[in-house]
Amino acid sequence: MTVYLVGAGPGDGDLLTVRAARVLGEADVVVRDRLVDESVMEYVNPQAQVIDVGKGPGESFRQTSINQLLIDLSQRYDTVVRLKGGDPFVFGRGGEEVLALHQAGVSCVVVPGLSSALSGPLAAGIPVTHRGVSRGVTIVSARGASGEMTDFRGLAHPELSLVILMGVEHRGVIAAQLLEGGLSEDTPVAVVERAWSEQQRTTRGSLRTLGSFDVRPPAIIVVGGVAALDLRSVKLVDVALL
Ligand SMILES: C[S@@+](CC[C@H](N)C(=O)[O-])C[C@H]1O[C@@H](n2cnc3c(N)ncnc32)[C@H](O)[C@@H]1O
Repeated sequence: MTVYLVGAGPGDGDLLTVRAARVLGEADVVVRDRLVDESVMEYVNPQAQVIDVGKGPGESFRQTSINQLLIDLSQRYDTVVRLKGGDPFVFGRGGEEVLALHQAGVSCVVVPGLSSALSGPLAAGIPVTHRGVSRGVTIVSARGASGEMTDFRGLAHPELSLVILMGVEHRGVIAAQLLEGGLSEDTPVAVVERAWSEQQRTTRGSLRTLGSFDVRPPAIIVVGGVAALDLRSVKLVDVALL
C-alpha cells in the first residue's frame, strides 16, 4: 500500500536513523541496493522478503524495471521498503522513483539517510567546512545522466571544498581540469574508500598526485584545504591551518 524510500546511511547499521530502523522492522518486503551494508540488514523484519536489485556502474537502464517492481509490490504488500545507500535524494535516483510511484497513484514516504557525501569525509576525520580553511562545500557527481563527464574547470575554487562522488575512475581527468581551472598543484586531496566499513581506507596527497592514487570505488574524493585535516587525531593536524 505504501512504499517507503529509506536511506540506509553510508555503511555501519548504527548510522541508520531511528525512523529508518523502525520502518525496516515493519517491512513486508525490502528492495535493496548494492551499496547497502549487511549490518543494516540486521534491522529488517526477519519475516520480510528481500529482493536485491543491486546495480553496478553502467547498468542504469534497469531503473525502469525497478520502478515497475515497486509499483507491482505495492499492490501485494502493505509496507514496501526501497532501501538505498546513503540518502535517497543524493545521487540515489530517489526522485525518479518517487515520481514514478506518484504517477502510478502509489503512496510514498521518504526517510532520509546520512549521505556518504558528508559522512564519508568525516569518517576520515575531514570536516567538509572548517573556519578559515573552507567557507563552503560543493557536492558533485563526476558524471551526468548520460555518462558524460562533469566539467570540473568551473568548479575550481580555493576557498570551497569539493566532494566528488563516482569520480574514482576519472581521477586523472578531474585533477587535470581542476588545475586548468586555476587550483594549485599543491591543493590537498583525500580519497576515502568504503567509509564506515571495516575496509575503510584513506589515501592523501595533492592534485599533483591524485591521478596516480591506487584507489577503487565506492569512494569519495575530497579536494581543498580540509583534505589535509584529520581531526580523529588532532596531533597530526597542521596547527597553522586551524
Ligand atoms: C550512486 S551514488 C549514491 C550516493 C548515496 N545516495 C549517498 O547519499 O551516499 C554512489 C557513490 O556514492 C559514494 N559512496 C557511497 N557510499 C560510500 C561509502 N561507504 N564510502 C565511500 N563512498 C561512498 C561513492 O562515490 C559511490 O560511487
